[in-house]
Amino acid sequence: MTMTIKTAADIQGMRVAGRLASEVLDLLTPLIKPGVTTIEIDRIAHEHMVKVQGTVPATLNYAPPGYPPYPASLCASVNHEVCHGIPNAKPLKNGDIVNIDITVITPEGWHGDNSRMYIVGEGSIAARRLCSLTYDAMWKGIVRVKPGARLGDIGHAIQVFAEQQGFSVVREFCGHGIGKRFHEEPQVLHYGRPGTLEELVPGMVFTIEPMINAGKRDIREDRKGGSYDGWTIVTRDRSLSAQWEHTVLVTDSGYEVLTLSAGSPALPAFVTTAARTPATATA
Ligand code: MF3
Ligand code: CO
Ligand code: CO
Repeated sequence: MTMTIKTAADIQGMRVAGRLASEVLDLLTPLIKPGVTTIEIDRIAHEHMVKVQGTVPATLNYAPPGYPPYPASLCASVNHEVCHGIPNAKPLKNGDIVNIDITVITPEGWHGDNSRMYIVGEGSIAARRLCSLTYDAMWKGIVRVKPGARLGDIGHAIQVFAEQQGFSVVREFCGHGIGKRFHEEPQVLHYGRPGTLEELVPGMVFTIEPMINAGKRDIREDRKGGSYDGWTIVTRDRSLSAQWEHTVLVTDSGYEVLTLSAGSPALPAFVTTAARTPATATA
């Protein structure tokens, strides 16, 4: 119900937040190698955000109703972990896949939220395929974004593409509006029917962040020896899971991806629209 429509000034703030969030991932890219721990990655990201960027990691002590305060400055979800993995002291090993999810808050209070998949060392063909096609699935949703389209169009495009590849879409977690608050309305489902749900209007900003499983879509809390950390979600069948996330603005003519930076991966070949509004049009 309370969805915020961003003004031109708000959008400038969100552009800064989005770029900074993406630049944290750029910084981390060369570090993600066999032997590194996700705790070390978290520490380096934290230092960069706080000391270099002057941003605040939005996840640190984040405590939505029913959750314990999140204890780290990023989420690191490895292999069959779907999302919200808490950094730990276990070294990454050759062939692991890991999602790193970064959300920064700028001094003005704007949030930028994005995540990428990384393949540690070489990676199996199956793991590489899952990561790459999940990236494409996110973009299948992004290219649907324009005024007059509906949220169901985004979810449908992602679901159809993922299921065509033999993968499944996680239902319990979704994208979200974002701005001065980390999670705002609307909820952005990654499955659905075309022509349904909220109509998109210029100035809306939300994330698209599909979680795609190589096996079945069912998930569960990660209960290790009976205890639960309160956050980590895994696939019930222990199949691999991948996720990518961008923060996206609805423009007058389509979309602008706010979480792009020098190190962002190339866009899929099917993306023919410009991902960013030309600077001349936005000055
Ligand atoms: N960044 C995640 C998202 O995309 C949320 C992480 S909340 C945390 O919405 F507490 F788990 F970090
Ligand atoms: Co998000
Ligand atoms: Co995120």
